[in-house]
Amino acid sequence: MAWPLLQLLLIAATTTAAASSSATTPDGPAPWPEQFHAVLFTNLTNVSFASTSPPLRLHDLYYDWPRRRNLNLIRYQLSRDPLYDVEWNNGTSFYFDSATCRTLQFPVGMLRPGWIAEGGAVYLGRETTGGIDCHVWGKADFIVYYEDALTRRPVRWNFIDVTGIEQFVMSFEVGVVLEDDSQWQAPAHCFLDDAANKTNEHDDHVAVSNGVMDALRLFRKFAGAAAAY
Ligand SMILES: *[C@@H]1O[C@H](CO)[C@@H](O)[C@H](O)[C@H]1NC(C)=O
Ligand SMILES: *[C@@H]1O[C@H](CO)[C@@H](O)[C@H](O)[C@H]1NC(C)=O
Ligand SMILES: *[C@@H]1O[C@H](CO)[C@@H](O)[C@H](O)[C@H]1NC(C)=O
Ligand SMILES: *[C@@H]1O[C@H](CO)[C@@H](O)[C@H](O)[C@H]1NC(C)=O
Repeated sequence: MAWPLLQLLLIAATTTAAASSSATTPDGPAPWPEQFHAVLFTNLTNVSFASTSPPLRLHDLYYDWPRRRNLNLIRYQLSRDPLYDVEWNNGTSFYFDSATCRTLQFPVGMLRPGWIAEGGAVYLGRETTGGIDCHVWGKADFIVYYEDALTRRPVRWNFIDVTGIEQFVMSFEVGVVLEDDSQWQAPAHCFLDDAANKTNEHDDHVAVSNGVMDALRLFRKFAGAAAAY
């Protein structure tokens, strides 16, 4: 009977430690793990840009920093043709489904694990969202980022002024990697020599701070990809 009692004591001790650490305000949001899979619920009903595709989606986000690639696999409600958003650290992002493709250039590459804290996130306080007690940070006047006060996992983020996008983290699996390279490979129709089918953006002017660049990147991503989204 000693073992269950010890377990109980350990659980109690862990819970107490977690509770007391969640009572203090962290210096900043925790960096993302280097590899994870998250399922995001996305509701674009209230976005400010014109979107012709269905507003409710599930995103499978595969973040893979060691391989410098990031995939948003976007499933629209009741649709069989998902949208792939494959982002490479060299700045190229491919947005494609079974028939179309757009290629965009983002000079800052993919989000770094510490992106949310880089350039300074502003602590906005404590808020319960989805029943989860969160620390909330704002960044660059348009990102609002919610982190579970107990586990420090991301819970939600909003891109307020830019697009009205709100994303809710439904699951978060640290260390889960999408190994299947075919899922990352942009299809042949992304490489057609057909300027009309491609939107290329080049942005190599003035140096700005990393924080502003991150904000710009998000801005450019969501503004630039509005049609695809
Ligand atoms: C989606 O957002 C709209 C507007 O913000 C809201 O009215 C609606 O209830 C939301 N739907 C879901 C399923 O969250
Ligand atoms: C929809 O967006 C507008 C601003 O664009 C905001 O004032 C309003 O509260 C939003 N509605 C919902 C249900 O989130
Ligand atoms: C970036 O890397 C991807 C994947 O290897 C490649 O398809 C793309 O052409 C590269 N972009 C540039 C600008 O080199
Ligand atoms: C763009 O690509 C699609 C799919 O491959 C093709 O059907 C269409 O003809 C292309 N557009 C132009 C202007 O060539």
